[in-house]
Amino acid sequence: MAIKKTHFPFLTLFVVIIIIEYLKFDVVHGYDRPPARKTIFISHDDNDTVPQQVHISQVAQDKMRISWITESPTPSKVEYNEFLSKNTVSATGNTSSYRDGFYKSGEIHNVVIGPLKPNTVYHYRLGESTNTTYNFKTTPDRFPIKFAIVGDLGQTEWTVSTLNHIANSSYEMLLLPGDLSYADFIQNLWDSFGRLVAPLASQRPWMVTQGNHEIERIPIVHKTPFTAYNARWKMPFEESGSTSNLYYSFDVSGVHVIMLGSYAEFHHNSSQYKWLQGDLLKINRGKTPWVVVLIHAPWYNTNKAHQGEDESVDMKASMEDLLYHARVDVVFAGHVHAYERFTRVYKDKSDNCGPVHITIGDGGNREGLARRYQDPKPDISLFREASFGHGLLEVVNASHALWTWHKNDNDKSVASDSIWLTNLFSNPTCKV
Ligand SMILES: *[C@@H]1O[C@H](CO)[C@@H](O)[C@H](O)[C@H]1NC(C)=O
Ligand SMILES: *[C@@H]1O[C@H](CO)[C@@H](O)[C@H](O)[C@H]1NC(C)=O
Ligand SMILES: *[C@@H]1O[C@H](CO)[C@@H](O)[C@H](O)[C@H]1NC(C)=O
Ligand SMILES: *[C@@H]1O[C@H](CO)[C@@H](O)[C@H](O)[C@H]1NC(C)=O
Ligand SMILES: *[C@@H]1O[C@H](CO)[C@@H](O)[C@H](O)[C@H]1NC(C)=O
Ligand SMILES: *[C@@H]1O[C@H](CO)[C@@H](O)[C@H](O)[C@H]1NC(C)=O
Ligand SMILES: [Fe+2]
Repeated sequence: MAIKKTHFPFLTLFVVIIIIEYLKFDVVHGYDRPPARKTIFISHDDNDTVPQQVHISQVAQDKMRISWITESPTPSKVEYNEFLSKNTVSATGNTSSYRDGFYKSGEIHNVVIGPLKPNTVYHYRLGESTNTTYNFKTTPDRFPIKFAIVGDLGQTEWTVSTLNHIANSSYEMLLLPGDLSYADFIQNLWDSFGRLVAPLASQRPWMVTQGNHEIERIPIVHKTPFTAYNARWKMPFEESGSTSNLYYSFDVSGVHVIMLGSYAEFHHNSSQYKWLQGDLLKINRGKTPWVVVLIHAPWYNTNKAHQGEDESVDMKASMEDLLYHARVDVVFAGHVHAYERFTRVYKDKSDNCGPVHITIGDGGNREGLARRYQDPKPDISLFREASFGHGLLEVVNASHALWTWHKNDNDKSVASDSIWLTNLFSNPTCKV
């Protein structure tokens, strides 16, 4: 069904652009891409009114946004409760759709539901004509909480492996530092990605920020960037005082999570910078002792891939001071297809009051791994390895969190790096 919407003359243009993108990254930055596993395409075989690509995102500690797509218009209605056999609560929302070249998306539904109890399983139904029920669990209102964190996911057989491991991890919320579908202008691949992740993303909130693969801007033909991403992955930006879906923040279980936009303006005069300044000032460390930031392009990176890009160098130059003085605990990035963990760091030097920087761009996309590293290893880099995998951050209490990197050892998940993080707010020498 989705395939019939591909318009072939446009493919030629897309292919040329994709080749240019490859040349840009592979020739200029010059690193090996070992054979990746192949891309899989998940089709939709039900009729046009059947909901697909269901995912949820947390709007507030007691509110959830339910997002899904139908090929033809159907009611934007969610019926939910702890048990559907009892009384159900009903909520309605909105649909939108977008065009990109000759592609027209399905109806993208967004419905916000709540108030919801913390740490509780809810069942839900979508639209009117379906008997399919889904369920999700809300996040706990206090620690402990377990986050799954993975970037540069894509939709290959490696991605499936990573998702299986995440599914088995009893995580409560997923954080994704950019590069979701690797659709790269082929809009049907956004639909396929939506179907691939729906079994997980319909059950736990998936909170995402954008990567370079979300931009999808073509001069003259499609001038607006982030069209598919913004339409399909609406995040709670209005609720955090942001004016853009590309950067936002939220509180969850004693953690303040800030999603920054590596591909939005980040200079001192930009609205993102001003928003970040205001957001950091509003943090109540009594309520959320932990502050976690996600970006796409890493500010610290000893891999030979993606060195010297503006989104790394200039964004760090602009914003590192803000994060340092706010005593941000950890910064997660993607972009580099590998795993790397740094010590606490500020202005390129080890600093006990700086954030730990972690690159987790190892979801398993079709471009393969970034295997070449700077040699000798700089002292601030404590662990680096080019393998696919995912990370788990278990925030145990106000002072301790356990970070574990699980690599895909072929199809097995193997815990390969683990560290206890202590909270900077509870460190008297790092007064906020
Ligand atoms: C539907 O979307 C429009 C535009 O985004 C918004 O103004 C309106 O409030 C929304 N309605 C509902 C019920 O959410
Ligand atoms: C599509 O599926 C729904 C729900 O199963 C059903 O009510 C409807 O009649 C179907 N429509 C078509 C055109 O088959
Ligand atoms: C949906 O469920 C109702 C009641 O259980 C049943 O009568 C109906 O046939 C079901 N419809 C479909 C399309 O399965
Ligand atoms: C799932 O996780 C459990 C431990 O949490 C482990 O024993 C089991 O082997 C895992 N299963 C798979 C398929 O990875
Ligand atoms: C903001 O600053 C950057 C870099 O200093 C500059 O390129 C840009 O034009 C400025 N934008 C505005 C709106 O002043
Ligand atoms: C927090 O968790 C750590 C690790 O389990 C433990 O050692 C510490 O005692 C806990 N602190 C409090 C106040 O419970
Ligand atoms: Fe990227």
